Amino acid sequence: MSANTVTFTDSDTQKCPFHAYEAARSLSPAYRDPANGFFIVTDYDKVRAVALDTETFSSETGLMFVKDSEIKEKIDKIWRENGVMPVNTMVVKDDPEHKFHRSLVDKAFTPLRVRQMESYLESIVDDMIDKFADKGEADFHNQMSVMVPLSVIADQLGVPRSNMKKFKFWSDTVMRECDQSNTPEQQIEITYDMCELHRYVIEKAAEYKAAPAECMLSDMVNADVDGRRLSIEELVAIVAQILTAGNETTAAAMSSAMIRLIEEPGLEARLHANPELIPQFVEEVLRLDSPIQGLFRRATRDTEIGGVPIPAGSIVVIKWAAANRDSAQFPDAAKLDLDRTNSRRHVSFGYGPHICIGNQLARGELRIAISRLLQRMKNFRYARGDASAIRHPHYFSYSVCELHIAFDRL
Ligand code: HEM
Repeated sequence: MSANTVTFTDSDTQKCPFHAYEAARSLSPAYRDPANGFFIVTDYDKVRAVALDTETFSSETGLMFVKDSEIKEKIDKIWRENGVMPVNTMVVKDDPEHKFHRSLVDKAFTPLRVRQMESYLESIVDDMIDKFADKGEADFHNQMSVMVPLSVIADQLGVPRSNMKKFKFWSDTVMRECDQSNTPEQQIEITYDMCELHRYVIEKAAEYKAAPAECMLSDMVNADVDGRRLSIEELVAIVAQILTAGNETTAAAMSSAMIRLIEEPGLEARLHANPELIPQFVEEVLRLDSPIQGLFRRATRDTEIGGVPIPAGSIVVIKWAAANRDSAQFPDAAKLDLDRTNSRRHVSFGYGPHICIGNQLARGELRIAISRLLQRMKNFRYARGDASAIRHPHYFSYSVCELHIAFDRL
């Protein structure tokens, strides 16, 4: 890749995008990706400025909707007959609707609520570790990283853990749906899979309408904000967002943390000796291996970023992950540094009105998982040589799909 052909659409770059961020940064404050015309913003201050200016940079990008009219007709028919028509909610919606959607879920994971969940999170983490602790080896990504957040989200939403395999499948389906390179056949298959989730949510919503309970789904179904209630289309869309937002991201961060423990010389020993550094380790992993590398906004008018003209209608990609490695903000930015004083200023959870609702929960899950692993095991290493850790290429996530580890028990 030469500096003039930097693109974020190619799968090798997606697996390891960090050199491309530096190349894009050196070329322009709003680098136009020649492959799709998207403007890539990498500078820390500009990323935050774009995220704050919701009037100029809208979250309603329309990117998720199929454009080709023939396929669109087919897909709309599938939605109508098998599920509900998709609508923009919360993360892909601007105020005032965004505020309304957010107000229905943002109380669930406040710092206080997450502190109260501490022993519950510990028991989930311990249950998962128990399943592989005696074996000396683990399919860490699938047995631990995926299972912890998935169990937590299932419990919080109010859906039985017995349906977990399905939730994982639907969460993956939402990620597949975001892939701009899907063929029409893939789009149709994804639509059928999503409709299955729609029907599941509709069924559960009816149960909680009839018999309210203490869970997010019940709260959402029965919420009345100044006489306004959620439509079934909004409910389905919000559940799909929480399912994916809460699973994929936390799982990626947990596996990235394990990769760092294995690969960074001296790190495991330092954390064993100084467990009080674990929260700082979590922040550094989130900063360096940001699970969501970047997200989209659409320019609502002709504007500019750092002097680069941005025509109305353009897609701007705010690259949280590149901002996190901006050396003007984080000296020696690519280095994991447990003594760094401003790690928490990373933007891995976004910035501004859409900042992540689940950030306290994700931080809690990661901190507790790493603490318990370090209390129970040592000498983490790869179990399958070069094939131990595999990352999955994706336009905006930095996910792991396989991580096989070995360890000794303490
Ligand atoms: C390490 C884990 C996580 C990362 C890196 C992450 C990242 C993000 C980012 C970057 C945004 C901003 C979106 C934007 O500006 O367009 C966001 C929003 C959001 N996240 Fe997370 N997230 C994580 C975990 C979670 C969890 C555990 C939940 C739920 C339980 C969650 C639920 C949400 C929701 C609902 C939004 C939308 C908020 C809004 O639009 O107002 N996330 N997240």
